[in-house]
Amino acid sequence: MGTAKISIKTEHEIRLMRESCSITADILADIAEIVVPGITTEDLNKFVHERILAAGGTPSTLHYRGYPKSCCTSLNDVICHGIPSSHVVLKGGDIINIDVTTYKNGFHGDASCMYLVGGADACSSAARDLVAHTKEALARGIQEVKPGARIGNIGAAIQDYVRELGIPYGIVREYTGHGVGREFHEPPQVVHVGRRGTGEVMRPGMTFTIEPMINQGTHQTVLSPIDQWTVRTADGKLSAQWEHTVLVTEEGVEILTVPGRSGG
Ligand code: MF3
Ligand code: CO
Ligand code: CO
Repeated sequence: MGTAKISIKTEHEIRLMRESCSITADILADIAEIVVPGITTEDLNKFVHERILAAGGTPSTLHYRGYPKSCCTSLNDVICHGIPSSHVVLKGGDIINIDVTTYKNGFHGDASCMYLVGGADACSSAARDLVAHTKEALARGIQEVKPGARIGNIGAAIQDYVRELGIPYGIVREYTGHGVGREFHEPPQVVHVGRRGTGEVMRPGMTFTIEPMINQGTHQTVLSPIDQWTVRTADGKLSAQWEHTVLVTEEGVEILTVPGRSGG
C-alpha cells in the first residue's frame, strides 16, 4: 500500500469518473423511495442492478472476487458487505446502508448512504444519532482533502470528531477507503483513524473514497463463517456507514458522487 503508485487522472478521465459517480449517486438518491417496511434487500438489489444497466454501466460488485450481487445491503449490526437476500425483509426502525458501485467507460464510481426504514420517527434516537454522526464524520474527512495534505489527516479528523462527541463509539479498522478509478480498489488505502501528517501526499487528479464505518459499541468485527462476506459488529450493536468518491483538485476537493448531474 505505502509504496504502490497512486494514479493521477487526466481531465478526460475525470469526466468519465464524474459520469460513473453521478450514476451511482442518482441511484442512491432514488432508492430512498423504496426503502420501506416490507421490502426485501433482494428487491433493493434488483432496483440497483436494473438502474445501473439502464444507465449503460455494469455493477462493479457483481462477481467481484466471487461476490454474488449488484450492491451491498448492510442492515443494523451488519457493518458492510451484507449480501442482498429475498429472505431479509425490512421493518420499521431498521437502519440500512446501501453501497453501490457503477462501472462505465472503464471507470468505477463508489458511494453508499444510510436509510432510516419507516422514517426517522420509527427509529430510536440512538440509531438516528449514529447515522447523523457518521454522516458528519464523512464530512469532516472530506474537509481534509486538498493538494499537499496527507491522507492520514482524513482519519485523524474523523477520529477527533468522534472523540469530541464523547460517545463511546467504535471506528472500524479492518475496512477502509481506497483509491478508485480504472480499478475498483486501488492505492491509496484511506484509513478512518490515525495521525495527522502521516500517509501519502494528496495531489490534484487523485480519486479515492472515504467511507467511515462507525459502531454504536466496540470497533471489533466478525466475518460471517457462512457466507464469508457479511461483516457484523462483534457485540451485535448497530453500525453505520456513509461513502463518497472524491477528487483532489488544485483548489481542494470535489465530491464526485453527487446526484443530479446526468439529466436522466
Ligand atoms: N463498495 C464497497 C466499497 O466501498 C466494496 C464492496 S466489495 C463487495 O469498497 F464485493 F463486497 F461487493
Ligand atoms: Co469503497
Ligand atoms: Co462502496
